[in-house]
Amino acid sequence: MRGTSVLKNINRQFLIAARPDGLLKESDFDYVETSIPEPGDGQVLVQVQMVAVEPALRGTMVEDTNNPANLQIGDVMGALAAGEVVESNNPDVPIGTRVQGLFGFADYVVSHPKAFLFSVIPDGVPMEAALYIFDTSGLTAYLGMAHVGKPQPGENVLVSGAAGAVGSIAVQLAKQAGANVVGIAGSAEKCDWLVNDLGADGAINYKLGDIDAQITALMPGGIDVYFDNVGGEILNAALGQIRLGSRLAMCGRISEYENTGPAYEPSNSANIIKFCRHMERLMLFDHQDKFPAWREAMTTMIDDGSLQYRVDMLDGFENLPRGLIRLYTGENIGKQLISIT
Ligand SMILES: NC(=O)c1ccc[n+]([C@@H]2O[C@H](COP(=O)([O-])OP(=O)(O)OC[C@H]3O[C@@H](n4cnc5c(N)ncnc54)[C@H](OP(=O)(O)O)[C@@H]3O)[C@@H](O)[C@H]2O)c1
Repeated sequence: MRGTSVLKNINRQFLIAARPDGLLKESDFDYVETSIPEPGDGQVLVQVQMVAVEPALRGTMVEDTNNPANLQIGDVMGALAAGEVVESNNPDVPIGTRVQGLFGFADYVVSHPKAFLFSVIPDGVPMEAALYIFDTSGLTAYLGMAHVGKPQPGENVLVSGAAGAVGSIAVQLAKQAGANVVGIAGSAEKCDWLVNDLGADGAINYKLGDIDAQITALMPGGIDVYFDNVGGEILNAALGQIRLGSRLAMCGRISEYENTGPAYEPSNSANIIKFCRHMERLMLFDHQDKFPAWREAMTTMIDDGSLQYRVDMLDGFENLPRGLIRLYTGENIGKQLISIT
């Protein structure tokens, strides 16, 4: 049965036009208009309203047979997104249900409740919170800080990519644990936000250079917990100042995602063996059993005002590629979402 809220009679999509080479470009995407698909048995038709982008999406566009999420040229660009069921052949997901899943850069998508990452957005949860704080970005921050970093009161915690989706949550979780928290980000505006709104004890604008000296000044004695979102030279600077018993939460390496040359080799890596007690690559889906408890913990923090989440909302379907590109140029503050209705 088709609902009355089907607004358009075309289905706009962005397809992958080219494998990105170096910097991601708008010309790596093709805009097309197609017809609205018909759901089959047990399926639903979703009208997408909001799309979430994250840095790993570029990796799905490059030739990589080891990546199970790898896409081909001509495929609809993939992404986590949320919307409303407008046609349903499944009594469990009636018309009007708000859902999220891997719907991609499209107005309409046919999906199934058993599809990977498909879920119903609980009543009362804003769509942007469902896509951000209660999904990959928020949960990864929680995993990295609460289960890997485990900061103790008075310890020194350094977070890179600190004004982004994951980093800004990681900063606040470390602050709540009573740590001395320093964030690294790429502009004065981002550094001000970290200190004045999120409660960080200090912030480093890495674009001003001399990261080593700035870390030493703000964290005398060394780093106890490093939450790494960026890799490269910033990771190397952090490794240069970790102290005995330190923990490293390895979340991502965005500084290297567009690098077409040899991978960056941190010259301070010997310090991992000398000083690090625990280093873990954050593999969110190894912890699915804990998601309900983590979501509940973060709901409590949002309700009592101890956890803020900032959404950087871009409007317009035509801005979907731009929204993704903004992550690599550092234009976003907080979680980059695109509203397409
Ligand atoms: N392990 C997991 O399951 C998992 C899940 C989600 C995300 N991640 C990873 O976590 C990291 C952050 O993701 P996010 O979604 O929260 O993105 P985000 O931080 O909201 O956006 C990316 C930010 O990275 C910074 N950046 C871009 N190029 C950089 C460079 N060359 N050097 C240093 N910083 C750079 C930019 O901020 P500045 O202005 O500060 O440069 C930009 O705003 C990414 O590496 C991502 O792949 C991993």
